[in-house]
Amino acid sequence: MKILVIGSGGREHAIVRRLAADQPAPELHAAPGNPGIAQLATCHDVPVSDLDGQVALARELRADLVVIGPEAPLVAGSADRLREAGLTVFGPSAAAARLEGSKSWAKEIMAAAGVPTAASVTVTALEQLDAGLDRVNPLGDVPFVVKADGLAAGKGVVVTEDRAAAVAHAQSVLAAGGSVVLEEFLDGPEVSLFCLSDGTRVVPLAPAQDFKRALDDDEGPNTGGMGAYSPLPWAPEGLVEEVVRTVAQPTIDELAGRGIPFVGVLYCGLALTSRGLRVVEFNARFGDPETQVVLERLTSPFAPLLLAAARGELATEEELSWSEEAAVTVVLASAGYPGSSRSGDAITGIEESESLGAHVIHAGTATADEVLVSAGGRVLSVVATGADLEAARTLALAATGRIGLEGSHHRTDIARRAAADEQAATEDRA
Ligand code: AMP
Ligand code: GLY
Repeated sequence: MKILVIGSGGREHAIVRRLAADQPAPELHAAPGNPGIAQLATCHDVPVSDLDGQVALARELRADLVVIGPEAPLVAGSADRLREAGLTVFGPSAAAARLEGSKSWAKEIMAAAGVPTAASVTVTALEQLDAGLDRVNPLGDVPFVVKADGLAAGKGVVVTEDRAAAVAHAQSVLAAGGSVVLEEFLDGPEVSLFCLSDGTRVVPLAPAQDFKRALDDDEGPNTGGMGAYSPLPWAPEGLVEEVVRTVAQPTIDELAGRGIPFVGVLYCGLALTSRGLRVVEFNARFGDPETQVVLERLTSPFAPLLLAAARGELATEEELSWSEEAAVTVVLASAGYPGSSRSGDAITGIEESESLGAHVIHAGTATADEVLVSAGGRVLSVVATGADLEAARTLALAATGRIGLEGSHHRTDIARRAAADEQAATEDRA
């Protein structure tokens, strides 16, 4: 089987890595890929924004399956163009990817499907702002949640106790011509659950938790994600089934009923609040860095699963199998991320890092004069597995420590609390 993966980040590296582990291994191509992906797949110099180039390449390769990683080409209609050209595609149409591309439309779909989510108000003019904030946060006793309506690479959301800061973010989005979604604050831990869909059926993967803030102890601004782990030993029993029943399946059904079949990954970003499960956001693709830990634990063949979804032939009766091990990933970000980001700094120590037993995922790297250099905000991730979360996170952190990248930063508390809770629970049982 010949598979073309579109994208150049850590998510695509993790997808390619997992596909390469299938038996028999498919023939792998990437457009454009990155230096990490190039170790596993043939990379083609077609940018993520070049939809014509993607169609031409997929046809030339006679790819059996095209997997679209990032949201931008999905929202721009890459899947539609490829399907029109007769290709088999894992990734939603532009119409279905609007679930990620427009937060206000996603809210409309959730309301129609009866999916539990934060109450919200969409604001398109400055005059509506104060009343909107009062409506979602009447007592002003919890943080304000202000979101840019369109795609923002995880950085369009501000959660703040400071009303002036909330107003300032909303103003900047409105001034740039966008609209703003104001939301009720959701308390409680967050869970990311990827649900594969073939347009009608839903097959969930294993849940993971992402760390969105830049700094330890959830300080600092929101980012695209600074680390993740799976499984979630603290998750309530039946969580995955509940998400499929109350969130994913009703959403897929609502879209199908509107003539917008969703084929690909419905990423359910959830909060387990004191009042029950709520959707924080939908994405129309695998999440990064969660994919790195979820796919690390998947032991069922991966390519046939993606192909079945793309063909409208997902089998819901078949249970996927998962490694008993825990997986943790730690993101190494360049100086200034997420505010600014520095490129072109030399990266050292990957071999030393991997010699400890972890592996390194490339997210924003490039080669310059045969030297590996940084080329983005999130540069690398270090993924480790272990018998439990504590073992996995200890190894991931030690391996991260071996990597040299001037000015880089990473969180040291990924999975820390879950690992401590897991150990306490084990001791209680002993
Ligand atoms: P989003 O891009 O919508 O996922 O938002 C990014 C991050 O902001 C989420 O992962 C949460 O940590 C936080 N967030 C978003 N919406 C809410 C909300 N309604 N209440 C509390 N935190 C939120
Ligand atoms: N890790 C969050 C995202 O992929 O949007």
